[in-house]
Amino acid sequence: MEQLTEELNQYNYEYHVLDQPSVEDAIYDQKMQELRKLEEAYPDLVHPDSPTQRVGGEPLDAFQKVEHKIPMLSLANAFNEQDIRDFVRRASQGIEEPISFVCELKIDGLAVSLTYENGKFVRGATRGDGYIGEDITSNLRTIRSIPLVIKEKETLEIRGEAYMPHRSFLALNKEREVNGEPLFANPRNAAAGSLRQLDPKIAAKRNLDIFLYGVGEWNNSKLTKHSERLVRLKELGLKTNPEWKKCNTVEEVMEYVDYWTKERPHLDYEIDGIVIKVDDLKQQEELGYTAKSPRWAIAYKFPAEEAITKLTDIELSVGRTGVITPTAILNPVKVAGTTVQRASLHNEDLIREQDIRIGDTVVIKKAGDIIPKVVRVLVEDRTGEEKEFHMPKECPACGSELVHLEEEVALRCINTNCPAQVKEGLIHFVSRNAMNIDGLGEKVINQLFQANLVKTIADIYRLEKEELLKLERMGEKSVTNLLQAIEASKANSLERLLFGLGIRFVGAKAAKTLAMEFETMDNLQQATYEDLLEVDEIGEKIADSIVQYFQEQKVIDLIQELKELGINMSYLGAKPTELEKGSIFNEKTIVLTGKMDNYTRSEAKELIEQLGGTVTGSVSKKTDLVIAGEDAGSKLTKAKQLDILVWDENQFQQALKDEGVES
Ligand code: IVH
Repeated sequence: MEQLTEELNQYNYEYHVLDQPSVEDAIYDQKMQELRKLEEAYPDLVHPDSPTQRVGGEPLDAFQKVEHKIPMLSLANAFNEQDIRDFVRRASQGIEEPISFVCELKIDGLAVSLTYENGKFVRGATRGDGYIGEDITSNLRTIRSIPLVIKEKETLEIRGEAYMPHRSFLALNKEREVNGEPLFANPRNAAAGSLRQLDPKIAAKRNLDIFLYGVGEWNNSKLTKHSERLVRLKELGLKTNPEWKKCNTVEEVMEYVDYWTKERPHLDYEIDGIVIKVDDLKQQEELGYTAKSPRWAIAYKFPAEEAITKLTDIELSVGRTGVITPTAILNPVKVAGTTVQRASLHNEDLIREQDIRIGDTVVIKKAGDIIPKVVRVLVEDRTGEEKEFHMPKECPACGSELVHLEEEVALRCINTNCPAQVKEGLIHFVSRNAMNIDGLGEKVINQLFQANLVKTIADIYRLEKEELLKLERMGEKSVTNLLQAIEASKANSLERLLFGLGIRFVGAKAAKTLAMEFETMDNLQQATYEDLLEVDEIGEKIADSIVQYFQEQKVIDLIQELKELGINMSYLGAKPTELEKGSIFNEKTIVLTGKMDNYTRSEAKELIEQLGGTVTGSVSKKTDLVIAGEDAGSKLTKAKQLDILVWDENQFQQALKDEGVES
């Protein structure tokens, strides 16, 4: 087990820190599997630093406070070349010998401190107010580029930036959108939000990463330069950013700044500037600190990327739920690496506030560097030809009167037959996380809609080959494939249909919960508000929306039609078995401790799991039952402290007999 741990930690270091894996993923997985098996067989030998133990323990109730022995200061800012030159001059004037600098990328994440004692990762904390932070060790342990053990038995406290790579950020927001959860505005918020979760399982799923850039306490180090420290940190197995550079003149510093200002869009992580640090540690000490920040470093902040363009029109779109959204149509312009031609204006209030008129010259920026936004109007560029914009009184798609629902800023079309809403609803119905009908994307739905071939969801299942062949760009082959995909979707499990119907507030996740709980559409249709509230994760808003939805005659008819067309109305995923349902172990969290005469640990675990229980390694408030064999130690003591039910082996055996799994 020790050998496997060592090997796996080395692979991990090569993969996550050096970015140079030496083995195939499959080999890593296989060794990990082997270690897991051994750990299962010998749970008492599981080492806390084992790579399997990154996500361990139960959720916390709150974070503990941690005092930073050396305060975590922030940096003074520079906003332009002159500020950088002033900094370099001030630093050089304060020092007699020649001075050199290290330039680094300023990572846009969350500042954290990591403490290693005798080579072991013992604590990780947020910066907090610089003096007192929060203990987020269990979340930081889930970051694979943070080694649980470093290569020497050193004691040190280091600092760095935890961040979320772009790729992980985009995937996370996509998933949240599907689940109807609010999106994170930028990777920094997402990283911070993930590290503030009390349950480390959440952080573990978020694919966070880290770059270490500085040292708090490091007693035995003989290093005299910041650059030497960066090299040493890397040797110890700690992840530093590879793009740092030593610069001897202000010209070299400016070159670095200019280079990264251009290259920034190609990085897989967000940077918001460049940090310039005096390299020599003695010189750093001589320069000292102001109350808030060191005099030996400065942070140059990139200007938020903006561009100027003309707003040529304001278009209105009707969403699936009837909300009317005004969108600015722009002359194409490049911002932060991509071409922008449209920007949401959200609602009329915002247009009024910013006094945006058609024909205006406007400044565009990407909020969180992703979603384009109109920042302001260049009023001085107006010619007098610009036109004020007013929201219409009627829906641009169906002509019904638009309304504001209680306190909403948004204007809505409440005609449920509005063709624009119906079409958006169809696009949603066939989308990947709903019925997932291949070959039936937005474009084809538009075509079908225009040709009057579909008006409702049910019409999709009545499409015929001859009709489809008449459409543009629809050949024999694509029509056959499309019809096959439509046919196949009839067999989808209930949650896809539920999500696809687009019931307000019912995202993919709620749909799954409902399908699992009620099993059939009939059951769900008959469920009362109270029945729905009984379900975990279903709150008043969702319950209310579901009850209202199923009361509509149109909905009742639609579901009847879909049934007749052969669409499956049952949940087909895994359900708790009959054995599990009736068992007293079902959904219970159980801890095994001590030695039993008749069962090994893994036998007992297997039996409990068969009956729907979960076996965990440590006792907490969430534990329902502790089964204690002989020589039970600290777990039993803890269970007694927390007043948790404890059984001995006899009671366990009796319970198994009662369940009928033991004779
Ligand atoms: S050095 C004494 N280096 O920027 C402060 N900071 O205001 C030493 N940051 O709070 C900080 N990348 O969260 C340093 N390469 C880097 C950095 C960096 C990002 C953050 C850090 C700090 C803030 C500075």
